[in-house]
Amino acid sequence: MNGMQIISTGKALPERCVTNDDMAKIVETSDEWITTRTGISTRYFCKQQAGWQLAVQAAKQAVDAAGIDPQQIGLCITATMSPHYATPSTACMVQRELGLAQDVFCFDMNAACSGFVYALETAHALLGTLQKPYALVIGCEVLSKITDFTDRNTCVLFGDGAGAVVLERADAPFAAMHGANGNDTALVCPGYGSEKQFLSMDGKAVFRFAVSSIPVCINEVLTRAGLSLDEVDHIVCHQANRRIIESVIRQMKAPAEKFYMNLQHYGNTSAASIPLALADMQQQGLLKKGSKLICVGFGGGFTWGASLICWNEKE
Ligand code: COA
Repeated sequence: MNGMQIISTGKALPERCVTNDDMAKIVETSDEWITTRTGISTRYFCKQQAGWQLAVQAAKQAVDAAGIDPQQIGLCITATMSPHYATPSTACMVQRELGLAQDVFCFDMNAACSGFVYALETAHALLGTLQKPYALVIGCEVLSKITDFTDRNTCVLFGDGAGAVVLERADAPFAAMHGANGNDTALVCPGYGSEKQFLSMDGKAVFRFAVSSIPVCINEVLTRAGLSLDEVDHIVCHQANRRIIESVIRQMKAPAEKFYMNLQHYGNTSAASIPLALADMQQQGLLKKGSKLICVGFGGGFTWGASLICWNEKE
C-alpha cells in the first residue's frame, strides 16, 4: 500500500467574527471595495486564544470523527507561519493535549499558504516509513498577530483559524507536485532576523503569481495521477481571493462548481484555508466515498504545490 486517503476533518475558529463594515471602522475601506476586489465578507480574529489551542480543537474534532485509536497516529504535522511558540511546536502541543503516543513524529512546517499541501506530500512520504497507519495534518494560523491594522492593502484580506485532517495509508490514488523560488519582496512576514513587525505584500505581484501558477499545478498533478479534470470531483484551492479562483476557472475553461470557495466567511487563513474548506465541504455533504480531490496551495516563498487525494470516510 503506498497510497493515502483523508478519512476525517475538523475545524476551529476564534470567537470574534469581524465584518467588512467592522474593518471600515479601523481603516479607510468599504464593504463594497473588499467584496468586489476579494469576495471576502467576514473573517475571524483571536482575542484570547493562542493558535495552538485552535489547532488542538480542530485536531481533536478530526480524530474523534475518524473513530480511530489515537495511539495509532504515527505522525502529526502542523502547517503554520504564525506559531504561538517557535518551540514547543504547535504539533507538540497537539501531541500533549490529545494524548498521542510519545513515539509520534511531531513538527511544524512553514511553507506559508502552501503549507497544507506541502504537509500532505510530506505525510505521504513519511507514512510509507512509519509503523502506524495514521497521520494528523493540521493547518493553523493566527495572522492577526502579524497584521498591520493601519495598512488597508493587507489588513482586510486575512483571518485566523485552524483545520485538520486524519490521513490513512491506503490503496488509494495519491499524487503530488510542489515548487519554490526565493522571492523576498512580494510577500514577507517577520521572523527573528527581520526588522519588520508585520506582514507586507505587493498585492498585484502576488495576484499575478497566483493566477499563473495554479493552472500549472493542477495540470501537473493531473498528469502525475494519470487523470483528466473530468475525473476529479472537487478542486480545493487555497482560499485567498475569489478573483484568483475565477481567473483559474476561466483559463482552464473548467466548470465553476468544481472549485469550492468559502473565503467569503474566513478571509485568507493561509495554511489553514484548505483544511477549513475540506471541513466545510464535509459538513455540507459534498464529499462522497471515493471523491477525488485536488488541493492547490500557493503563497509566500514563493511556494506552490498540489495534491490529488481521495476522501474515504471510515464506516
Ligand atoms: N479599501 C479601499 N481601497 C483600497 C484597499 C482597501 N482595503 N486596499 C487598497 N486600496 C486601494 C489602494 O490604495 C489603491 O489605491 P490607489 O489606486 O489610489 O493607489 C487601489 O485600492 C488599488 O486598487 P486595485 O488596483 O483595484 O487593487 P487590486 O485589484 O490589485 O486588488 C488586492 C488589491 C490586494 C485585493 C489584489 O491585488 C490581490 O488580491 N492580490 C493577491 C493578494 C493575496 O491573495 N495574497 C495572499 C496570497 S497567498
